[in-house]
Amino acid sequence: MSSEEISNLGNESRTFAPSAAFAAHANAKPSLYTEANSDYEGFWEKQATALAWEKKWDRVLEWNLPFAKWFTGGKLNASYNCIDRHVLEGRGDRVAFHFEGEPGDTRTLTYKDMLREVSKAANALIELGVKAGDRVAIYMPHIPEAVIAMQACARIGAAHSVIFGGFSAESLLQRIQDADATLVITADGGFRKGAAFALKPVVDEALLGTTNVRKVLVVQRTKQETAWNADRDIWWHELVERQSDVHVAESFDSEHVLFILYTSGTTAKPKGIFHTTGGYLTQTSFTHKIVFDLKAETDVYWCTADVGWITGHSYMVYGPMINGATQVMYEGTPDTPNKDRIFKLIEKYKVTILYTAPTLIRTWMKWGDEFPNSCDLSSLRLLGSVGEPINPEAWMWYREVIGHNNCPIVDTWWQTETGAIMVSPLPGITATKPGSAMGPLPGVDATVIDDEGKVIGNGHSGYLTLNKPWPSMMRGVWGEPERYRETYWSRFEGRYFAGDGAKWDEDGALWLLGRVDDVMNISGHRISTAEVESALVSHESVAEAAVVGATDAMTGQGIVAFIILRGGIDHVEGEALTKDLKAHVAKEIGAIARPRQIMVVNELPKTRSGKIMRRLLRDVAENRAVGDSTTLADPNVMKLISEGLQTAKSED
Ligand code: PRX
Repeated sequence: MSSEEISNLGNESRTFAPSAAFAAHANAKPSLYTEANSDYEGFWEKQATALAWEKKWDRVLEWNLPFAKWFTGGKLNASYNCIDRHVLEGRGDRVAFHFEGEPGDTRTLTYKDMLREVSKAANALIELGVKAGDRVAIYMPHIPEAVIAMQACARIGAAHSVIFGGFSAESLLQRIQDADATLVITADGGFRKGAAFALKPVVDEALLGTTNVRKVLVVQRTKQETAWNADRDIWWHELVERQSDVHVAESFDSEHVLFILYTSGTTAKPKGIFHTTGGYLTQTSFTHKIVFDLKAETDVYWCTADVGWITGHSYMVYGPMINGATQVMYEGTPDTPNKDRIFKLIEKYKVTILYTAPTLIRTWMKWGDEFPNSCDLSSLRLLGSVGEPINPEAWMWYREVIGHNNCPIVDTWWQTETGAIMVSPLPGITATKPGSAMGPLPGVDATVIDDEGKVIGNGHSGYLTLNKPWPSMMRGVWGEPERYRETYWSRFEGRYFAGDGAKWDEDGALWLLGRVDDVMNISGHRISTAEVESALVSHESVAEAAVVGATDAMTGQGIVAFIILRGGIDHVEGEALTKDLKAHVAKEIGAIARPRQIMVVNELPKTRSGKIMRRLLRDVAENRAVGDSTTLADPNVMKLISEGLQTAKSED
């Protein structure tokens, strides 16, 4: 979003009231807000009773700021709640997943099928020596085995750490080392953009580093030729297929670690956000039921996120499965073989609830209405958005062209750290405004405050903070206990600082304004400026680098890097060098971090204490007049940068 658009946010006068027909059958009731306000702990306790517990908790909440424990003393098994319960209660024949591979191959997995497959996989993990408390790295294409592997880990109490398949060997190694994983589950490859890509070689390269990985379990997805280390590598179909399909799930403490998921912070080192069991499952399943209005017997729910991100964890693998949802899972890209692929799948599976990201919605807008218009989308009854602010134009297009003015839209704000949706309208209750996430959900206490921590009223923007613990909150940063307090709880006393700017408009609707820290949001993916800078300076030609996220009409933000070359390197090499640098970043981090633009400069704007003033660089990257630069150590720098760029442009 441009700064002009941001300053216009909250001036929206269009409001869409819930339809009476929808409201009559909505899962969410207005009384939820009053219940949560009058008895906060009692409210969450009530939601926890929806899960199957082998042993009930002794205490709902132990809050020792900033450390929370929920439902302590309780025991349960995550996978039992997601799968066994449905089979035992007579829902075993319900479809859990309609899987569609990119080439068009399909698989239908009922809850009974999931129980069989997950049990076999759990037995396989046990044979490989994986125990409760161990960490398992999962690096997979978007295929059912990714879900099965996660569920199998949960079943035996091992923490999974899913690493998105687009990350590089370097990033994979760093995450394997940080979590000290002993097993990697991967695949030979997957299908994307009409071709097979390889994953196993990336694992092989990563494992050249020092790790405690003993085995690599490999799903055969593409049947491409795959290098093999017979001492270490095992085919999934050989090991898992010969296992017993019976596995009795053992219950673990409510606070037992369920998974670690790495995400970018403001430093170059990603943070291993970890979540535990009872609170996380309570809040993900509860929010899934009320925000998406799931009617499990009749709905077909499709969350288009990859399992490698928190959205895939909370709103594909855990929340919906606990609720017994029937889901669509699609392996590939939205334009393969044609730009109507997603719409064709909605038509084919009669999808009723679609949860996707603004970047895809904007891409669809660009491709043109003929693609959705050529398919029957009349099964849709609710639309969701997540990952970045959705601009009002995209919101309206989503409503009109995809939803035929017939579906409530839920713009859901949350984070890897929050584990579950925190801010969202409730369908059937909340009147919505295009582009606004409207307000905190019941049981969530959110406040917008200013620099000094003073609470801000309607009509002003500030920082979004959360004031009370919530069941699915992160429990810490893996291996770095202090980083949790420092990053989230030290800026404003007693409040969790989310890193996002926000504003209540004059009507009290909440608008998310994007990150206010050095975290970029590229197509809904979080990438830190420091991570990209560190990748750039690891290149032999680069002496210094500063990276900013500049507004991008399609991807929300695009990565723009300013670099100073090492002495003796001539920037007339121009294009070849920047191409090489972009490839270098992709190799170091992954293709999602490839800079959109690299500008060679002679100086970087720094304060007297040496901090790079990214705000000024963002002005340059977005072609704006440069803002106040009086705090720079050398006030001339911005002039030099702008002039240098002018010269570079005229040389092009
Ligand atoms: O800046 C916010 C943005 O995404 C960040 C969280 O990123 P991640 O942990 O990767 O989780 C993404 C999926 C939950 C937030 O700090 N964000 C997420 N959803 C929204 C959003 N910004 C505005 N509106 C949203 N609905």
